[in-house]
Amino acid sequence: MFHKIPESIKKRMKYLEDFDTKDRIDGTPRMERLRQIPPETGKFVSILAVSAPKGEFLEIGTSAGYSALWITLACKLNGNKLVTFEILKDKIKLARETFEVTDLHDVVELIEGDARDYIPNYRNISFCFLDAEKEVYEDCYDLLIPNMVKGGILVADNAINHYETLKPMLDKALADERVDGMIVPIGKGELVCRKI
Ligand SMILES: C[S@@+](CC[C@H](N)C(=O)[O-])C[C@H]1O[C@@H](n2cnc3c(N)ncnc32)[C@H](O)[C@@H]1O
Repeated sequence: MFHKIPESIKKRMKYLEDFDTKDRIDGTPRMERLRQIPPETGKFVSILAVSAPKGEFLEIGTSAGYSALWITLACKLNGNKLVTFEILKDKIKLARETFEVTDLHDVVELIEGDARDYIPNYRNISFCFLDAEKEVYEDCYDLLIPNMVKGGILVADNAINHYETLKPMLDKALADERVDGMIVPIGKGELVCRKI
């Protein structure tokens, strides 16, 4: 996956990494910061995604599509599609541009709206990357887990850098007998749950 990343995807990843770095330095008056994952989290997420069983792939929190690009590396290998949700207009515009310039419009479906309104429509989720506002994590978790296939993998970002805010959801997930879960110290900290 990582040795043969198509040039257009590599180029867009670099563009978004630079955009994100500039945002962090400038304090960005342009739009809300991209707040995207670092590359090592991207690699981790794509390895988990490619190892997921057959089923639907979701992402909650597209931003400009950077993490989605990593997940599409897995999609290209196993013929899956990714459905990703975003609520902010500016970011939706950038994400559409991302999927256009990388020729991924057949691989990625970008849904404009609150993911919580759509998750119940997906009944065979085999992989989900959750990276949205911390206030919606627990709602999303509660909606996702019953609709995941056996062996399905849920990854939630910010499990370490927002540990205190996410603690109720993290404690719930780690004690949940429907999944095996752990927190992995990669990037901002990833909660990884595998549906039993
Ligand atoms: C941390 S950013 C996502 C970064 C992205 N995953 C990446 O690494 O490139 C979180 C995004 O989630 C979006 N968001 C927040 N709540 C949401 C919801 N309920 N449904 C869909 N998107 C949401 C925000 O607008 C924001 O763009």
